[in-house]
Amino acid sequence: MTPDARVIETAPAKVNLFLHVGDRRTDGYHDLESLAVFADCADTILIERGDALSLTVAGPFAAALPADENNLGLLAARRLASHAGVRAGARITLAKKIPVAAGLGGGSADAAAVLRGLNRLWSLGLSHDELREIAACAGADVPVCIDSGPAWMEGRGERVASLPSLPESWLLLVNPGVPVRTSEVFAKLRRRSGLGVERPAAAFEDVHALTWFLRSTANDLEDPAKNIAPEIGEVLEEIGKLPKTLLTRMSGSGATCFAIFANHDDTCSALASLQLRRPAWWCTACGLAPRAIAPSQLR
Ligand code: C5P
Repeated sequence: MTPDARVIETAPAKVNLFLHVGDRRTDGYHDLESLAVFADCADTILIERGDALSLTVAGPFAAALPADENNLGLLAARRLASHAGVRAGARITLAKKIPVAAGLGGGSADAAAVLRGLNRLWSLGLSHDELREIAACAGADVPVCIDSGPAWMEGRGERVASLPSLPESWLLLVNPGVPVRTSEVFAKLRRRSGLGVERPAAAFEDVHALTWFLRSTANDLEDPAKNIAPEIGEVLEEIGKLPKTLLTRMSGSGATCFAIFANHDDTCSALASLQLRRPAWWCTACGLAPRAIAPSQLR
């Protein structure tokens, strides 16, 4: 089979439906537990054959993301090349549609998509387990983005167990346009839930069963993030007032917050009324993304 001359990958936004923090570890990270899902709102990545590794960033949030050596996608690409002994390069073009430093794992999703794409472009045949190991070098959130399906995260986030698919659920994602640095949020963290939430053994029957489960959990990073960016409190207040919301919460280390709805119509009418009230905020209505690759195709 002729190797592909170019591949396209999508990098869906990650939403932490809950996030509990445990102890600070000797490596400076915190142990955590989280239920992560992926929304069908995504960056797009085009990877073409090339002599050297290069990255160009385009799209509405391009200006917020320097395409320099610290870019997670480039970092992941170099790790993969050295792991697999690849000398070829690749031209990576990233269309950035997910806000940056927003608690949606955008940079991590991009890095994971680059790893999946290069695995195909360079015909490496690496399994997703192997890709996850390489991904962990680029950041705690990158491994969960390799499959981009509902997942239970443990350790510093790099230990990932996939979950049965979730019931039909709709998300309104809202970001007030204030970037928040994850390290600063963890540094301001005072109250931690600790670990020990029981991982759901069976699939949730419907979105109401899912939100009932989530109500016994929290995002421990919400208070420290609000401390850094008080706009997060405003977002939570506004989305809490929208009709038909089943649960509202912040994702990751913020500032993006989400509201869960039972159907598409309720989500879209909430989106419309919020956009009228707060035209400067980034808002989008999303379903849950299908996995990057169907589980049966995982190698
Ligand atoms: O892994 P990543 O580089 O995204 O993490 C950014 C920072 O967030 C870390 O340097 C650390 O300060 C903090 N962090 C943490 N515990 C985690 C994940 C991140 O303390 N589980």
